[in-house]
Order: sequence, then structure tokens, then C-alpha cells
Amino acid sequence: MTKTRRNPNRASAGPRIVLVAGARPNFMKVAPVLRALNQHAGACAPILVHTGQHYDDTMSSVFFEQLGIQQPDVCLDAGSGAHGSQTGRIMTAFEEYLLASPTPAGVVVVGDVNSTLACALVSVKLGIPVAHVEAGLRSFDRSMPEEINRVVTDAVSDLLFVSEPSGETNLAREGIAPERVRFVGNVMIDSVVYELAASQALDLPRRLNLPPKAFALVTLHRPSNVDIPEQLHRIVEFLMELSSRMTVVFPVHPRTGARLVEFGLLKCLQRSGIRQLEPLGYREMLALMEQAQFVVTDSGGVQEETTYLGVPCVTLRSSTERPITITQGTNTVVGSDFELARRVIAEIDASTYKSGRPVDGWDGRAATRIADALIQSWQ
Ligand code: UD1
Repeated sequence: MTKTRRNPNRASAGPRIVLVAGARPNFMKVAPVLRALNQHAGACAPILVHTGQHYDDTMSSVFFEQLGIQQPDVCLDAGSGAHGSQTGRIMTAFEEYLLASPTPAGVVVVGDVNSTLACALVSVKLGIPVAHVEAGLRSFDRSMPEEINRVVTDAVSDLLFVSEPSGETNLAREGIAPERVRFVGNVMIDSVVYELAASQALDLPRRLNLPPKAFALVTLHRPSNVDIPEQLHRIVEFLMELSSRMTVVFPVHPRTGARLVEFGLLKCLQRSGIRQLEPLGYREMLALMEQAQFVVTDSGGVQEETTYLGVPCVTLRSSTERPITITQGTNTVVGSDFELARRVIAEIDASTYKSGRPVDGWDGRAATRIADALIQSWQ
């Protein structure tokens, strides 16, 4: 059972706009939208709902502190679980909340996690308009839980805010009416622009004794990489090989940490000298990303952040829903082809690797465009 907690101290004026955040990659997307809506005081009353999909301090609270996000008005405390039960718990609790509160003008969901899908479905079935931030991204790999979440959320959303041109093409192909779609740019980059100076001020790479622009940063958490023993084994071997010739820093996601223990791989990592860290706060992650020689990842957001920062990114996935990070950015998708990964890293070492070009709408002002559109549509 979920239990709903409410923050009694919030007063509101104007049409209520409910924003949903649930898992780590949601927080840096919601923060700029909240900030932009709060600048329209009186024109709308933003309400923040935290589903509790992620709940550890390192996966949740630290982002609220660092990104200056207001305390959630409502916490659904849904927690972890299998997809069906987690999604179901979020739906039940969010529906109860919506039914017990004055009807909002609309609900804003971001990204592609289970909380995004759950809250979009509940809202639309109650006849409440839904806006989806980061709409239209497609990996065309339906074995990814996030791809199902994207397709369904976009199908039921009224307003679809797109971050890169492929989003518009994908939505048109799925028959979504163009008047529902707005190209606004990338809110993820709003957070990078807003937090970069604070992250640099941490001086973290020096404090961790990392050689500037000469270490690799690794992030991994996709089920397709970490839940399959043979695949995780191959990745660990690749990382060990990398660490035999350079410093490798690896903040370990809770899912990955649990699998490393379960599959008996933790000791190999420890012996290899790879610098394992707890999951990092937003600013700490940005600080390491900016100073890394390159990043090895399976995250979606990290592909975008590295493109903005001009840092080479080697993506251990067979597809990306963010193709502009390849065509215009610094990303290469290598899948499980570690030979290709080695060739890419050799190019990075030789400074012959592509450097990328700025991307349209990745300018720190996407959330302002979203807030303007929401107020115009939902007032
Ligand atoms: C979820 C998202 C994924 C996103 C990722 C970022 C879905 C389908 N997946 O994956 O798109 O990239 O978040 O982290 O929504 N756990 C903790 N503490 C927490 C949260 C999770 O220990 O605060 C552990 C639990 O054992 C849990 C496991 O991590 O079962 C996985 O968490 P879950 O939210 O199911 O999926 P993620 O792998 O985090």
C-alpha cells in the first residue's frame, strides 16, 4: 500500500498545474519548469507531486537540495517493485490524490520512467489535460521499459514538448496531430546551464585527485546491461582493461550495485582499482562529466549532457532515442561491440574524435518556452 503525505504549508493562487517527478532523471527536468512557472506568480499555481519511485537520499533528496526544488506538496511513497506493481501503486495513489483535491488545469509529466506513464494515464482518464516534456523520443527498441512508457505517454498527452527534431518526425509518423506538438528544446540542458558554475566551484576532480581531462567516467544501470550476468561480466572485463591504463571513476547505481554483488563481480572491480563511488549528486556528476576525458554510459540524459559539454561519450547500448547526440553531438553508440568502443577511445586519445556542434534549443531557455505555452493553453 502507498501512503500519501501532503505538505500543509503550501498556499496557491491561480489555476493549479500539477508537476510529477518520481525518479532521479526527472528531477533535473522538473526543476527548470517549476522555476519558470513560479515566475508567473498569480497566473498559475504549480503543485509538485513526488511519486517516490526513487526514495534514497542519493537518488532523490540531494537533487531537491542542489536544484533548489521546492519540497513536494504531495509524496505518494510508491517505492520499488516489479513494473506492474510499481506502476499500479503510483496510479492508485495519484488517482486518490487527484480525486481528493480541486481539479487542476493540467498535469505535466517529464521523461520516460514508470511514474511518467502512470500519472499520464490516470490524469487523462479523469479528463485532465496532460503535457509531456521530452516527447517524441524513440529508440525503436520495445524491449526497453522506457520505450513503452514514451509511446503510451505520447499517445495520451494533449501537449507534447519536443527536445530535438527527431521527436517531431516520430510523433508525425505515429499520427499525432501537429497542433499538439511544440518544439521547445531541452530542459535537461536548462539545468546544466543553471548549475554549471556551482558544479565547477566544487573543485571535485581535484579533491578526488583525478587527473584533469585524463580519466574516464562510467555510469551504468539499464536492465539490458546490468541484469544479464554474461553482459555485466563482459562490461566489467572491458572496464578492468580500461582501468589498467587510465583512471576510471564509477558512481554505482543501486540496481547495478545489487547485481554486481549477486553475480559475484564486485571483488573483480575492487581488485582492478576502478574508483567506485556512491551515486553522485547532480552537481558532483556534472563536475566529473565536464572534466572527464570521456564518459562510458548507458544513460539517456548523460548522452545529452556530454553533447552540450563537448565531452566524448561512448554509449553501451544498441540504440539511442536521442539521435542528435550522434549526428551533431559527441556521442557514439557502440552496443556490446567492445572492439568498436576501443577504436572510439583510440580516436579520443589521438584527438581525432568528432567535437560536435551546438544543438538548436539546447540553450538554457526550454523551460521558459514550456511555461509560456502551458499558461497560454491552460489558463
Ligand atoms: C529508473 C527508470 C529509468 C531511469 C532510472 C534512473 C523506469 C522504468 N526506469 O530505473 O528509466 O533511467 O530510473 O535511475 O522507470 N533502488 C534503490 N533506491 C532508490 C531507487 C531504487 O535502492 O531510491 C533500487 C531498488 O532495488 C529498485 C532498483 O533500484 O528495485 C531499480 O529501481 P527502479 O525505480 O525500478 O528502476 P531504475 O533501474 O532506477
